[in-house]
Amino acid sequence: MAEYHVAPANATAGQKLLNWVDNRFPLSKLYNEHLGEYYAPKNFNFWYIFGSLAMLVLVIQIVTGIFLTMNYKPDAAKAFESVEYIMRDVPGGWIIRYMHSTGASAFFIVVYLHMFRGLLYGSYRKPRELVWLFGCGIFLCLMAEAFMGYLLPWGQMSYWGAQVIINLFTAVPFIGNDLALLIRGDFVVGDATLNRFFSFHVIAVPLVLLGLVAAHIIALHEVGSNNPDGVEIKAKKDAKGIPLDGIPFHPYYTVHDIYAVSIFLMIFSAVMFFAPTGGGYLLEFNNFIEANPLKTPPHIAPVWYFTPYYSMLRATTDLMIQILSAIAAIAAVLAIVRGGFGAMGKLTIGIVAIVAVVLLNYFDAKFWGVLVMGGAVIILFFLPWLDRSLVKSIRYRPDWHKILFGVFVFFFLVLGYLGSEPPSAAGNYISQLGTLVYFGFFLLMPWWSRIGTFKPVPDRVTFAAH
Ligand code: HEM
Repeated sequence: MAEYHVAPANATAGQKLLNWVDNRFPLSKLYNEHLGEYYAPKNFNFWYIFGSLAMLVLVIQIVTGIFLTMNYKPDAAKAFESVEYIMRDVPGGWIIRYMHSTGASAFFIVVYLHMFRGLLYGSYRKPRELVWLFGCGIFLCLMAEAFMGYLLPWGQMSYWGAQVIINLFTAVPFIGNDLALLIRGDFVVGDATLNRFFSFHVIAVPLVLLGLVAAHIIALHEVGSNNPDGVEIKAKKDAKGIPLDGIPFHPYYTVHDIYAVSIFLMIFSAVMFFAPTGGGYLLEFNNFIEANPLKTPPHIAPVWYFTPYYSMLRATTDLMIQILSAIAAIAAVLAIVRGGFGAMGKLTIGIVAIVAVVLLNYFDAKFWGVLVMGGAVIILFFLPWLDRSLVKSIRYRPDWHKILFGVFVFFFLVLGYLGSEPPSAAGNYISQLGTLVYFGFFLLMPWWSRIGTFKPVPDRVTFAAH
């Protein structure tokens, strides 16, 4: 038990109250550890605002969600009209709903940028692997949260989007049909599906999400933040043990983040007030029509934040399987001929390649598509161990690494665009190329990330006062 502390006689009433609380709950300790005496690197830049913004959007989503739930009816016969009721009759209902729907897209924009920052500065590398892993868990939860939330308005896209995505699970060998049935709770998307998605969306997933966010921040504050130079500030401390390049989070970064928050809120409000549907990208037009199980919309596409993965799913055709089989065979031949392996090594590579080619062709392309789509997210969990670069930050990597990052981002955006468009032959070839670039970037990272001329990393962070 912590030592009991008696407040000095001349302490103010406020100080006495705080002292009373501190003797029973570590309030000042928590404040100091996470704000007042949390020393963050002094060279944070633009990319470091997105963590705080993600927290802000999380709060917006939870608060607006609570108010939406007060008038929403999780019933297939009433859900659509209850949303219309919120939009037209509930005082302030429209703004709450648009905050929530704009918030969903804002969440993904902020989190994608936040993750990209991690990639730029190697923030997932030792000792921050757990920060990254918790982050990946958050990302998975966010995707589940958004997917289930989208069914709730019970519009055409809600219905058919859920139908298409849940049906993908039927491609899983042996248990696929039962799995899809378990998720739907019925043979088609229906009231049972809506009810379970509602309960997951409103309580189960947010609880896990909040737990993961807490773990994310605790892990980060244990090891300390990275920074744009990728220099560990804890390596250089003054006599009091304070990092020489660290500044207290409060007030320096609270001010910095409040500034970012105000700009963010201006953009957020502009979208919410003037373009809440975002031209059909934020709220799809078909979703203003009530779900009709007898009428399939001509073009079903998920919301923009899922489209890169949806493109990868669509790209996994029989042709793609043939290409992958050829890549596996060529890689094996190259490894056997030029890899310098012994007889046993060569034999193992040969057997693995044959098994891979057989499996690739044994299962349906649809099954591999589902695996590719899931794998595109799961692979992020392995990033801390895939990146073998000598330095953390992109600043000190060989210049061509920057080009590679650029190519990766470009194809990710192209995949996102193509996933929102109706399928076309040309689009499909480009998606296939994009999928190969996406996976190539990660799977070949242990090899390419070590190659090239790295620049010397400074001892201390680089910082120009402004
Ligand atoms: C609800 C979602 C999230 C919230 C509220 C959140 C919050 C935060 C906050 C407040 C920070 C410290 C400030 C900053 O560095 O920007 C941070 C850092 C970090 N986050 Fe997140 N985060 C979220 C999602 C994610 C995701 C999805 C990932 C990656 C998959 C991730 C990876 C990281 C990493 C690696 C750091 C350390 C960055 C550094 O020190 O350079 N976060 N996060």
